[in-house]
Amino acid sequence: MAVSTPRQLDRQRIRELTQREEERLNGRTQKSRAMYERADRVLSGGVASSYQLRDPWPIYLEHGEGPLVWDVDGNQMYDFHNGFGSMVQGHAHPAIGRAVQARYDRGTHFAAPTEDAVVVAEELSRRFRLPKWRYTNSGSESTMDAIRIARAYTGRDTVMKIFGSYHGHHDTVMVSIGVEYDKIGDHENLASLPYGAGIPQATVDMTVAVPFNDAGAMKRRIERLEAEGRKPACVIMEAAMMNLGVVLPEPGYLEAVREITRRHGIVLIFDEVKTGLCIAAGGATERFGVVADVVTLAKALGGGLPTGAIGGSEEVMSVVEDGSVYQVGTYNGNPLGMAAARANLLEVMTPDAYTKLDALNERILKGCSDVIEKYGLPGYSVGVGSKGCVTFSPSKIVDYETFKANQDAELADLAWLFNMNRGIFMTPGREEEWTLSVTHTEEAVDAYVACFEEMAHDLTA
Ligand SMILES: Cc1ncc(COP(=O)(O)O)c(C=O)c1O
Repeated sequence: MAVSTPRQLDRQRIRELTQREEERLNGRTQKSRAMYERADRVLSGGVASSYQLRDPWPIYLEHGEGPLVWDVDGNQMYDFHNGFGSMVQGHAHPAIGRAVQARYDRGTHFAAPTEDAVVVAEELSRRFRLPKWRYTNSGSESTMDAIRIARAYTGRDTVMKIFGSYHGHHDTVMVSIGVEYDKIGDHENLASLPYGAGIPQATVDMTVAVPFNDAGAMKRRIERLEAEGRKPACVIMEAAMMNLGVVLPEPGYLEAVREITRRHGIVLIFDEVKTGLCIAAGGATERFGVVADVVTLAKALGGGLPTGAIGGSEEVMSVVEDGSVYQVGTYNGNPLGMAAARANLLEVMTPDAYTKLDALNERILKGCSDVIEKYGLPGYSVGVGSKGCVTFSPSKIVDYETFKANQDAELADLAWLFNMNRGIFMTPGREEEWTLSVTHTEEAVDAYVACFEEMAHDLTA
């Protein structure tokens, strides 16, 4: 990762290009516009989740195959969004399709355990070095239950998280995520702020945020909370932040967090909903070599079916086993999801798959880095495993404060439009990264780099 010598970009030029690209995208997505008008009558905002909203209308998809997706206008695109990183296997993978079909023919839901649930847990134990597992249906459910387990295990209520991190849509973690720079608060004493309406103030007050990549700030905040009689039950965090683009842990940071939490008897939860299965076979745990007390998974686990999991140490999971915590759910361990997860883990996300993803990511990161250097853009490319992004910032982003202070949001928006108009389906939102799939090819990643170069050229012409 190298921060280039930045040049001053012409802001007027960025705005002109944005307008040009917006008009172009609107022109080629007229069937999405028509679909939106119909959808808006019956779906709030015309979408199934607010993360799918887009002005002036969302792009409605029709189908996907391997690395490609097609929208309702027939535009064919390489998928770098991959369902917020769920489809690291590529679309309609035949091995997962066979498993799902075979399971369908034998019944899809019993609310009773099946052998596949055991096989998947055996494989997850091996990959994440945690002995005991349970299932959920989404990342939000995984983090919600993991926090409850930590609270039960420690007998404490306060939850510590990283400022700016997203861990799903339940109340406890919908705190201190996306807020304006001037509202963040003091670095040593970051604010607890609700993310949207409808979250009780009492819940907000129970969640305390600290900056990423600063173990000293975490330690001091824990000590102050302890002095106030509010020692945290857990620290929930992504080992590498995946919603400010990609922010990697600085050397020694995760080890220090592990040591602080262990010393204070605080449960360390690595939320691996995005990193797990996408940045290594054993996620961030394997990649960075630090083992948390609890790991949460979802997204890529089910290979396109809604499946989540929680893994934990014997001690922490004992509160589930002794019945003091109800970790429950009608669809937990659903046979269809488990069949897909089994094929995903054993047949698709193999050691060869991770070797391929690493090589492709190296190629795309290097390609983007070369473009940045050639055109003197203010930014750098950064990534790990299947994940990466170009961060438009003149200096390195290490946490939410530096992200908010430095990210060039206009440039991030323009890059998205450029991609969408040139056959690159990219995750919407200024904070997002790409996820490659095992079906991506050098041709696919070169197409991404070529599109980025075209933008760099037009910006600096
Ligand atoms: C790190 C992390 N945790 C949890 C979640 C919530 O997952 P879900 O949307 O499946 O509820 C997300 C979703 O983006 C996430 O990125």
